[in-house]
Amino acid sequence: MDQRKDVYDYQSKCSIDISDLIKFAGNEKKKVARRRWAILAKALKSPTGSEPSSPTDEYSVRRISSFMLLQTQQLPSMSVISTDVRLLDQFKKRTWYSYSMQIDDERFSVNVGHRNRTFSAEDLMGFNNTGNICIWPSEETLSYYVCNNLDIFNDKKVLELGGGMSCLAGLYVAKYGRPKSVTLTDGNKISIENVQVTLECNKFDCPVDSKVFKWNDDSFTEWYDVIICADCLFFDDARNDLIDCLWRTLSSDGLALVMAPERGNTLDCFMEQSQKIGFSCRKIVNYNEVVWSKRLALLDNVEFNDNIHYPILIEVTKS
Ligand SMILES: C[S@@+](CC[C@H](N)C(=O)[O-])C[C@H]1O[C@@H](n2cnc3c(N)ncnc32)[C@H](O)[C@@H]1O
Repeated sequence: MDQRKDVYDYQSKCSIDISDLIKFAGNEKKKVARRRWAILAKALKSPTGSEPSSPTDEYSVRRISSFMLLQTQQLPSMSVISTDVRLLDQFKKRTWYSYSMQIDDERFSVNVGHRNRTFSAEDLMGFNNTGNICIWPSEETLSYYVCNNLDIFNDKKVLELGGGMSCLAGLYVAKYGRPKSVTLTDGNKISIENVQVTLECNKFDCPVDSKVFKWNDDSFTEWYDVIICADCLFFDDARNDLIDCLWRTLSSDGLALVMAPERGNTLDCFMEQSQKIGFSCRKIVNYNEVVWSKRLALLDNVEFNDNIHYPILIEVTKS
């Protein structure tokens, strides 16, 4: 299988920042650059922009960018009561979806906004945009995992790193767990704008906040008991920053749940580099029977590449 094609197809709906993903796949850089510019041009020419895909849309199913653990439903109307004109404006600029999953006889559901116009030229030139493209399968499987293991978060201070446009797993923890507090972060300000509006459209019993947080910001020194993070290991030039950030923000007896596909050897690099600075890492390939059965069913599909598509869980602790 042409791995480059697969990576490209995987996120072709509106992918811009795919160069990191395809680095390991070969050297046809010109071809890739042409594709990127074609996508960029399409996004810029579109009158409404490209809406990020959800992990359950038809397009995603065909391209194996979902494990079909979540059901999305567009919400016909959503009202928010606020005197904040800016918030009301942000609210109107979005289409609203409920993201639900059924686990045994319990239904877990959160509302998430999708920005109607995803990219302006300025946006595209800015900070890493991968989190505005879609909710990635790792965030989907992490969401499923946290909803199956909510006790982990009881009375804990929880931080999500690199949560993208939804910080979906963190939203589920905040809504259905019993954490002390939840802080949702990403380095991209457009993602966090979306998360901030999204927070207004959900109800929580614990304090929840969101902020732009770049991993190399060492002025952020607060400690957290549990850190969650999905699909953030493939940025070669930011991996060390992420590991240092985990070291600074994870309490001495804390636990980080890091979910990501192998993507070449990027997951192993993360583990090696983490162990070097003193972390213990436990790689868990089969962390949930339902997710595992979805993977087994996909193995026969020619579009499925285990290395790129199947999210693995790493438990990270301080030794
Ligand atoms: C592939 S996306 C994953 C987003 C989300 N977790 C998901 O799976 O849908 C990677 C995320 O990492 C964020 N990111 C990349 N480099 C970062 C950095 N140096 N500091 C903070 N966030 C960063 C991006 O903004 C993006 O949202």
